[in-house]
Amino acid sequence: MSRKPIIAGNWKMNLCRSEAKALFEGISSFLSNYTAPQLPTVVIAPVFTSLCQVHSIDCSCGCEGKKLSVAGQNCHWEKSGAFTGEISCEMLKDAGCDYVIIGHSERRQYFSETDEMINKKAKAILANGMIPIICCGESLEQREAGSTDAWVSSQIRAALDGLSSEEVAKSVIAYEPIWAIGTGKSCDADEANRVCKMIRNVVSECAGSSASDSIRILYGGSVKPSTIEEQMSKSDIDGALIGGASLKADSFNEIIEKTMKVCV
Ligand code: PGA
Repeated sequence: MSRKPIIAGNWKMNLCRSEAKALFEGISSFLSNYTAPQLPTVVIAPVFTSLCQVHSIDCSCGCEGKKLSVAGQNCHWEKSGAFTGEISCEMLKDAGCDYVIIGHSERRQYFSETDEMINKKAKAILANGMIPIICCGESLEQREAGSTDAWVSSQIRAALDGLSSEEVAKSVIAYEPIWAIGTGKSCDADEANRVCKMIRNVVSECAGSSASDSIRILYGGSVKPSTIEEQMSKSDIDGALIGGASLKADSFNEIIEKTMKVCV
C-alpha cells in the first residue's frame, strides 16, 4: 500500500504577518520547481492572524492536486457562539485551511485539552470537509515507566471514537514523543517506527484494515534535514510534523527535497 508522504510545518506561536509571508514565499518558490505528483503533501500551519498571508497552491492545471495546503493549529468543535478566544472549523475552512492540528502536547499540557475534546474536534473538522492531524505521544516519565504503548493507544482510541472507517482512513496521526519536541533529541528511527506500527494496529482494531492501511502516520519531535531520510525510510512512518526546522525556508525545503529522494 503506498501512502503519499506528508511534510507538515507547525509554526506554533511564531512569526508576525510579514515574516509569515516571507517564509511562505521561500517555500512556494521552492515548490514551483516541481509538479504536485512529484511532491509529498506539504502543509504549513501558521498562527491565525497569518492565515490570510499564506494560501494553498493549486497546480496550474487543477487536476494534479495541491502543492501546498494550509492548516489551523487548533479549533473549537462548536459552529459559533460565546467562546471567547476560540475559532470554529467553518472559519478555518473559510480562511483556506484543509487540515487542522489537534491534540498537540503543548495544548494538552498548557490548555488542559482532553481526549474527549480532541474527539469532538476531530468530528467537527471532518464534518467541515477538512482533515484532522491528531497528535499523540508519551512523556519521558511514561517512557521510562514502560507505559508508552498503553498511553499512546488510549489516546488514539479516544480520538477516533465514533468516527467511520472512511473518516479514519483520510485522517492523519502524528506520533510526537513529548521528550523529543523542541529538545534537539529525535527519537531513534527504529523505535519511532515501532510505535507508529503499534498505532496502525490500534487503528486497525478501531476502524478495520483498509483504514489502517490508508491512514498516514507522521513522526514529530526534533525532525531536521539530517534526520528525515532515515525516518522516511521506515515502513510505518509516512511523514513528519516539524516545529523548529519549519521556521526557516532552507531547512523546511531541504526536508521536502530529502523526502522526495526517499519516497516520492
Ligand atoms: P520540533 O516540534 O520539531 O521543534 O521538535 C515538533 C512539534 O511540536 O510539532
